[in-house]
Amino acid sequence: MTLRFTKIAIFLAALIPLERLVWKAFHDGLGANPIEVITHSTGDWTLILILTTLSITPLRKLTKQYWLIGVRRMIGLFAFFYGCLHFTTYIWLDKFFNVHEMVKDIAKRPFITVGFSAFVLLIPLALTSTAWSIRRLGGKNWQRLHRLIYLTGILAVVHYTWLVKADLRKPIAYGVVLGILLLYRVGVWVSEKRRQAIPAPARSLV
Ligand code: HEM
Repeated sequence: MTLRFTKIAIFLAALIPLERLVWKAFHDGLGANPIEVITHSTGDWTLILILTTLSITPLRKLTKQYWLIGVRRMIGLFAFFYGCLHFTTYIWLDKFFNVHEMVKDIAKRPFITVGFSAFVLLIPLALTSTAWSIRRLGGKNWQRLHRLIYLTGILAVVHYTWLVKADLRKPIAYGVVLGILLLYRVGVWVSEKRRQAIPAPARSLV
């Protein structure tokens, strides 16, 4: 029951950035360059939600709040949702589906290709986020596939760092958070390997 309420609360909270944009759009609040505001807001929220998804496992283990796993999928799907809005803003509102304009822009601003790669990698993760997919793929394969989220996070931070012209503080902050989350994984992996290297009878004494 509590998890259900938590899920509803997270669902509603995750919609706030979109609601804010819609509210601003109807109240002349998007300023002189609305497309830029929408692109930046949706890009920011995609990255924040990717990092939040990545932080669930360490948080769950460190705090022993095991219920957190129950909200990871929803947060990941919201990352994909904001990624779709971000991408749609670019191809629709910014470039108006003009392929020639997009190709020119990509040649001029290679960070777009990096962002696109990050977005494309989110697609199989979103498509296989169901319990049915876990059963179909098998737990191990599903886990292997979902490790793509690490690469997505790296590409997303590179995309942001590359596009920023002067003030690097925000992309660096995101990069530091991502670095900590990846280091945690490396630490777990190393200690797991060490544990496996210890013969089974001795392992039970450790
Ligand atoms: C997982 C995928 C992606 C993430 C996490 C992401 C994230 C971001 C972030 C954080 C920003 C900067 C926001 C700010 O300045 O506050 C941004 C800007 C931008 N992104 Fe992405 N992005 C992704 C994919 C894409 C894709 C697929 C495209 C287009 C094909 C794209 C095009 C842009 C553009 C044009 C900007 C604004 C650049 C500027 O202001 O000069 N992004 N993105």
